[in-house]
Amino acid sequence: MAYLIGIDVGTTGSKSLLINEKGQVIASATVEYPMYTPQPQWAEQNPEDWWQATAESIRQVLAQSGANASQVAGIGLTGQMHGLVLLNKNGTVLRPCIMWNDQRTGPQCAWITDKVGPKRVLQLTGNPVLPGFTAPKIVWVREHEPQVYEQAAKVLLPKDYIRYRLTGEFATEVSDASGTSLFDVGQRRWSQEMLEALDIPAEWLPECYESPVVSGRISRAVAEITGLQAGTPVVGGGGDQAAQAVGSGIIETGLVSVTVGTSGVVFASTDEFTVEPEGRLHAFCHAVPNKWHLMGVMLSAGGSFRWYRDALGRTEKEVASLIGKDPYELLTAEAARAPAGSEGLIFLPYLTGERTPYPDPNARGVFMGLTLRHDKAHLVRAVLEGVAYGLRDSLELMKDLGVEISQIRASGGGARSDLWRQILADVFDTELVVINVTEGAAYGAALLAGVGAGVYKDVAEACRQTIEVVQHTEPVKKNVALYQEFYPVYRALYGALKPSFDRVSQIVTQNTTAVNK
Ligand code: XUL
Repeated sequence: MAYLIGIDVGTTGSKSLLINEKGQVIASATVEYPMYTPQPQWAEQNPEDWWQATAESIRQVLAQSGANASQVAGIGLTGQMHGLVLLNKNGTVLRPCIMWNDQRTGPQCAWITDKVGPKRVLQLTGNPVLPGFTAPKIVWVREHEPQVYEQAAKVLLPKDYIRYRLTGEFATEVSDASGTSLFDVGQRRWSQEMLEALDIPAEWLPECYESPVVSGRISRAVAEITGLQAGTPVVGGGGDQAAQAVGSGIIETGLVSVTVGTSGVVFASTDEFTVEPEGRLHAFCHAVPNKWHLMGVMLSAGGSFRWYRDALGRTEKEVASLIGKDPYELLTAEAARAPAGSEGLIFLPYLTGERTPYPDPNARGVFMGLTLRHDKAHLVRAVLEGVAYGLRDSLELMKDLGVEISQIRASGGGARSDLWRQILADVFDTELVVINVTEGAAYGAALLAGVGAGVYKDVAEACRQTIEVVQHTEPVKKNVALYQEFYPVYRALYGALKPSFDRVSQIVTQNTTAVNK
């Protein structure tokens, strides 16, 4: 029996997952590391921490599984996207990684957009230049840390730094490269035009492969530290969202995934490079050769429910801990007492600003439509419904681009609730299903490794052999009709409130600055 390992270099920790060729999970280990915020809006991590955690998590899965290292046919990498790791000519890390959630590069994004032209940026890279993306971070280092920039010789993304440590190779793959603003997403190769416009040397960038292709092999030194066998192939892998999609079988048109974690992600596979004309959806290469994907990211999905639990659900939290239950279970039971549509109470889930469809840091959360009739049940239900409306916004943008949606696969913590799944199915007016796999991106990376190692013919076969639908939720006609009426109201609220969001943000910023002076 062949084994496969998927490694996810995530935001909070590095996870190694060992599966067998049938797709059964044999062992899983996660080792955490810190994130640093040396200044407000900055987010940094130490690549050495990723490496130590990854080596430890590999040792742990090998020990837990009892697998012989010679049976590990291949390794796939995935991880947080967009981060900048800068190395000198000896391969030494020059400064901490500037992460995907770092917001320092507003001025550099504006400079790049102006230099290349907003339309051309969108045509070439599939997306506007966003502060989390890699290119503006390189420009930021050039402007703010010239002594670091002068020594730079290589640029790597987080999971690709781990590839370098595992194999000695400087390599990436198309899905992660798509999030750099330096990649020609339609042509699936580095963009000379972007590199020249930004004056970034092409030789700094790693070799770029398709995701299931072998990009290097485990070195002898790493074999000694981790217990892996020297020579084990390491495939390209994928950015966390693309790998998660492979691990959910979202690799053909018609299938869409909705992941309700802290954030909410709507992901569709496309057969052609398709760009949303205003860049409101991300358009990246998929981790499947010759496929692309569209993606909408909502910042506070499960995060809105967590906010409710912490801010207004103190009693439920206390009762839950007394009776040994999950507070979310008590809160959803409460929400179930309110009727669909929450008798006209609508919640806007922009608690941390928003990314899709409104890239707006000033957007705020709102309860609209409160009356004396509304009680706690309505408030919780409105939160669950508001998140569903927000996710529908991304689905609508996809439909406008001609994306066909025949089935939606739900995952993440939010998909565990029967009520929330029903609300999602009703708001989307589409069948919602849950699959057998809950291991996320690391699972997809392991499947990609299986393709590169020849265990599976291609990604489609890997998914067919391992992934199955285990639960269906059908929309309820009566609720669909009601949500159909409320959704345009929800949609109009952002535009109506935008001036107020901006003004509130201005007042709060001025006063915070004044207090801190
Ligand atoms: C994708 C994105 C996140 C990060 C961290 O565009 O920003 O998925 O990769 O998970």
